[in-house]
Amino acid sequence: MLRFAHALDTQLRAAMERAFPEAAAEAIAAGRPLDPQLAPASKPEFGDFQANGALALAKPLKQAPRQIAAALLAELETDAAFGALCLPPQIAGPGFLNLTLRPEVLAAELRRRLTDPRLGVPLASESGAGSAVAPVIVDFSSPNIAKEMHVGHLRSTIIGDALARVLEFRGHPVLRLNHVGDWGTQFGMLITHLKQVAPAALTTADAVDLGDLVAFYRQAKQRFDADEAFQTTSREEVVKLQSGDPVSLRAWGLLCEQSRREFEQIYGRLDIRLQERGESFYNPYLEAVVADLEAAGLLVVDAGAKCVFLEGMQGKDGNPLPLIVQKSDGGFNYATTDLAAIRYRFAPPPAGDGARWVVYVTDAGQANHFAGVFQVARRAGWIPEGARLEHVPFGLVQGDDGKKLKTRSGDTVRLKDLLDEAVERCEADLRRRLAEEGRQEDEDFITQVATTVGLAAVKYADLSTNRITNYQFSFDRMLALQGNTAPYLLYAVVRIAGIARKGGDLGGGAAAAFPDLLQFSEPQEWALVRELLKLDTLIAEVEQELLPNRLCGYLFELSQVFNRFYDQVPVLKAEPAARASRLALCRLSADTLKLGLGLLGIATLERM
Ligand code: ARG
Repeated sequence: MLRFAHALDTQLRAAMERAFPEAAAEAIAAGRPLDPQLAPASKPEFGDFQANGALALAKPLKQAPRQIAAALLAELETDAAFGALCLPPQIAGPGFLNLTLRPEVLAAELRRRLTDPRLGVPLASESGAGSAVAPVIVDFSSPNIAKEMHVGHLRSTIIGDALARVLEFRGHPVLRLNHVGDWGTQFGMLITHLKQVAPAALTTADAVDLGDLVAFYRQAKQRFDADEAFQTTSREEVVKLQSGDPVSLRAWGLLCEQSRREFEQIYGRLDIRLQERGESFYNPYLEAVVADLEAAGLLVVDAGAKCVFLEGMQGKDGNPLPLIVQKSDGGFNYATTDLAAIRYRFAPPPAGDGARWVVYVTDAGQANHFAGVFQVARRAGWIPEGARLEHVPFGLVQGDDGKKLKTRSGDTVRLKDLLDEAVERCEADLRRRLAEEGRQEDEDFITQVATTVGLAAVKYADLSTNRITNYQFSFDRMLALQGNTAPYLLYAVVRIAGIARKGGDLGGGAAAAFPDLLQFSEPQEWALVRELLKLDTLIAEVEQELLPNRLCGYLFELSQVFNRFYDQVPVLKAEPAARASRLALCRLSADTLKLGLGLLGIATLERM
C-alpha cells in the first residue's frame, strides 16, 4: 500500500493497470505477470509516485526499458481518467515513470476532508478489512491482585488502550479485557497469613489498603518459602477457595475489591476504560480444557503432571518442551487459564465471545508462554479458520542508567508516584515559563495544563518508541518542548488555536468558511497538504501492524511540516483568497493532530 490518500492510490493504480496491457501485449501473450510497481517517489522533486514496472518488462519484451516507458506514457496520455488525476508523466533514469498528482485533485481531496468528521479515514468494513460484527479482543493491563501494579503493567495499559482506540475508530467492536491475576496459589498464602496477623482484612471491607496488602503478601511469600507447615495450610486454603468455600470466597472477594479500587484510580487518571474479567472467571472451564486436550489425543502424563509436548520448541537439553496444564497435585496454572480463555474467547456466543481477532499486550518476557499456549489452542482446534491470535510484546522499562527502573532507595517505582512526579515537574516547568514570559494565569489553568501535559508526556514517551525495544524512562526527555515529545505536539495544537484567537476563522464546526476551490502556491503549503492526506493510509497500517509508534512518528512529522509552513508563510496577513486556503490548512492540521492524539489516549489543550 502506498503512503498516500488511499482513494487516489487506487484510482492511479487502476489507470496504470489499464495502460500496461497495451504497452506489454507481448508479455501478456507470454503469460508474464504485469505490475506497474507503483511506489512513493524517493524525492519530492520527482513528484508523488514512481512506476518502476517498465524495468521488469525489458527482458521478456527484449526492449530497452526507456522504450517501454515511452509506450506506457503514450498509453497513459490517451487515458482520460489518468489525465484527470495526474500531470503529464516524466520518464526518468533507466525507465521509471515519475507521476505527479494534479494540484487541483489534492486540493479537492483536502477540501473533502474538511467536512468529514473522520478526516478521510474509512471504516474497516468499508475498506474490506473484515466483518464488523465479531469482536476484536484486546487483553491488556492485567495486573495481579494483592500485588502492586508496576511499570510493565503501565506500558501494557498505555499501549493496549491506544490499540483499542485505533481499532474502535476503525469501527471494530472491541472488547477491552482486563485479565487480572485474581486466582491461584498466592491467595492461599495470603489468606493463611492474614488469618493470623490481620483477620479483620478477611471479613471487613477497607480494613487494609493496597500498600499493606502488598507488604502482607511479601511476608506471606517469605513464610511460604521457609515454613513447611505454612505451605501445607496454604495449599489447603487454595483448595477451599477453588471448591467454593463461602468464608474463603468472601475473604478473596474483599482482597480483590481492595486492589481493584487502587487500580481504578490509575485507570481513572489515565482515562482508560477496561472490563475486568480476571483469571477466576475461567475457573469453571479448566476441567473442560483438560478434557478437550485429552479427547484430541494431545495430553501426555509426565511425572504425574498432565501436559502437551510442544512441536518445534525445545528446552536446553534439546528435548521437546512440555506445556503443563494440570500439576501432579491436581492444581491448574497460568497456562491452563490462558487456554481456557482462548477457548472461551473464540467460541461462538452464547458459550463464548465469538471473537475473530484476539491480541495480548504483555512484556516480551511472556513470548514463550504465548507461543506455547497458542500452539496448543491451534492443535486443539479452538481457533476458527481465518481468525487472528497475536501476542503484542513490548520491552522493559529502564531508568536513565539503562537498568531496571527503581527508586533512589532501590524499591520498585509505584505508578501513582510516577504519575504524580510527571505532573509536579510539569507544573514547575510551567510556573518557570510563565514567570519568564511575564504571564499571569490562575491556579485552575496551571493545574489543568500541568495534569494534561504531565500525563500526556508519560503516555507519549512510551507510545513513541517502537514497543519491541526496551524503553528508557526519562522525565527530562519526555517533558522537553522540543523533539518527538507530547509537549511539542500539544504546542502545535495550541499555536493553531492561537490563530483563531487572533481573528482567523477556522470554520468552527461548519467549514462553510472555506472556499470550494482551495488554492495553494508555496512549497510549504503543498508539503503540508501532502502530509495531511497520508492520514488514512497511516491509520490502516497502524491497525495492521499494531504499532502505535508509527502514528506518533506521523504526528511528529506533521507538526514539523506545519510549523515550517506557519513560520515561513503568512496566514493572517495574507491577501483574502490565500488567507482562506491557508486557514483551511491550519484547521485540518489541528483536527488531524487532535484526532491522532486522541487515538493515543492523549487530551489536547487550547492554551498552555
Ligand atoms: N497478570 C499477568 C502479569 O501480570 C498478565 C496477564 C496477561 N494476559 C493474559 N491473558 N495472560 O504478568
